[in-house]
Amino acid sequence: ATYKVGYFVGSLSSKSINRLLAKALVKLAPKELVMSEIPIKELPLYSQDYDADFPPVARTFKQAISEVDAVLFVTPEFNRSIPGGLKNAIDWASRPWGQNSFARKASGVIGTSPGSIGTAVAQQSLRGVLCFCNSPLMNTVEAYIQFTPGLISAEGEVTNEKTAEFLRNYMKEFHLFVARVLTVLPRDA
Ligand code: FNR
Repeated sequence: ATYKVGYFVGSLSSKSINRLLAKALVKLAPKELVMSEIPIKELPLYSQDYDADFPPVARTFKQAISEVDAVLFVTPEFNRSIPGGLKNAIDWASRPWGQNSFARKASGVIGTSPGSIGTAVAQQSLRGVLCFCNSPLMNTVEAYIQFTPGLISAEGEVTNEKTAEFLRNYMKEFHLFVARVLTVLPRDA
């Protein structure tokens, strides 16, 4: 079976190292995972005033999440948490009340930073958010990737074989996790 995975890049930067990581993960994923990006950049700042009538950009966004079997967050750490743009996107997806897009949807988190703890604190924060959103979240493998210059090329090639193997294994475990979640929580349940 194949599984659709929608991935979020938490950075809006044109030079994002997390986007490079996402590119690498797409290349290293097992063939059973069909990966597509769910963009967050065009979403306005969320307000409950929108709940009565979501704008088209937010409807398209929520539709994209509904069409995938699992979501993967590839995110930087900003001030020891996740970037505001990503939190905004999650808030949109979680609403209106009763239409939380993440409910029972498998998820994974990963990220890279030049710092030696490699987004660990941001990921910890994101885990709490996804837990509240009732998303079954892959506990292990954890992946805190310290980015060094040239680690991933512009084309998404990982230049260090140990890191490539680690990331390949991460995606292999994510595939097995998604398959397990869908066994217990089928899409039409
Ligand atoms: C950072 N950076 C950062 N790094 C980190 O490891 N922990 C942190 O808390 C922060 N905080 C932080 C705040 C803000 C506002 C910025 C702009 C940056 C550095 C960050 O890891 C680096 O800029 C990465 O390149 C960001 O990832 P992208 O956007 O390149 O994917």
